Amino acid sequence: MKRKGERIVAVTAYDFTFARLADNAGLHILLVGDSLGMVVQGHETTLPVTLDEMIYHACMVVRGSSSAMVVADMPFMSYQVSVEDALRNAGRVMKEALVNAVKLEGGAEIAPTVRRLVQIGIPVVGHIGLTPQAIHQLGGYKVQGRNLEAARRLIADAESLSEAGAFAIVLETMPAELAQLITERTPAATIGIGAGVGCDGEIQVIHDLLGMVEDIHPRHTKNYADLGQTITNALSDYRHEVIERRFPGPDQSFSLKPEVIQVLREEFGLTEPASSGQR
Ligand code: KIV
Repeated sequence: MKRKGERIVAVTAYDFTFARLADNAGLHILLVGDSLGMVVQGHETTLPVTLDEMIYHACMVVRGSSSAMVVADMPFMSYQVSVEDALRNAGRVMKEALVNAVKLEGGAEIAPTVRRLVQIGIPVVGHIGLTPQAIHQLGGYKVQGRNLEAARRLIADAESLSEAGAFAIVLETMPAELAQLITERTPAATIGIGAGVGCDGEIQVIHDLLGMVEDIHPRHTKNYADLGQTITNALSDYRHEVIERRFPGPDQSFSLKPEVIQVLREEFGLTEPASSGQR
């Protein structure tokens, strides 16, 4: 798609239902992001997410996707300790969840790991710029690569990852001009998030796009729907109708034949109810 100049559209997905909806919408890549630690599990960072949890969610997303490529994040500490660890753990994700590729955060320092993964047949997506697994080192969710030295480092990181065989690289929260430059220089497809419109594609967290997160509103995202409010309104209507006995109604209920219920009521000495509201 990069070579043809076609834009790549990606979104995160964490379960079967949302994967199917995103797949139906024609998205090209579904990322089982470790952002699930924040938007699904309610943690403050992505750090607590385990490999078993990633595999659990990735299995659901794979079942919901019929044409999109499914990529799973390797969670914190599942690939940093040693190349052997990374191979074993990425192998588990590929084998147990049947995803198409894995994503690793980091630049030149993880290139040897990326190379080995690619050598044994595991497609790899890189992720540089704001890497949430390093949030404590970065000191918060800040724009990366803003000065010459930092920008040069990110360009070198993208080149190392691409050379090592990563077929795509997520560029997160960096100046648009820098992301564009990396995109022009790198054979790997660049997928931006908070990196401007010059990347080969875009990825966003599905909860952000659909307006399902109350307290965090990153500048790089846009609400294409207000599902959070829609869901709260719907559940509030449901609560009222149940309390006021307006739900379930005749259409949602099942009936006994009148002669059967009459026999039962007589048998148990019960008088006719005022109105059962049922057919
Ligand atoms: O975990 C995630 O959702 C991600 C995307 C934001 C790129 O890594």
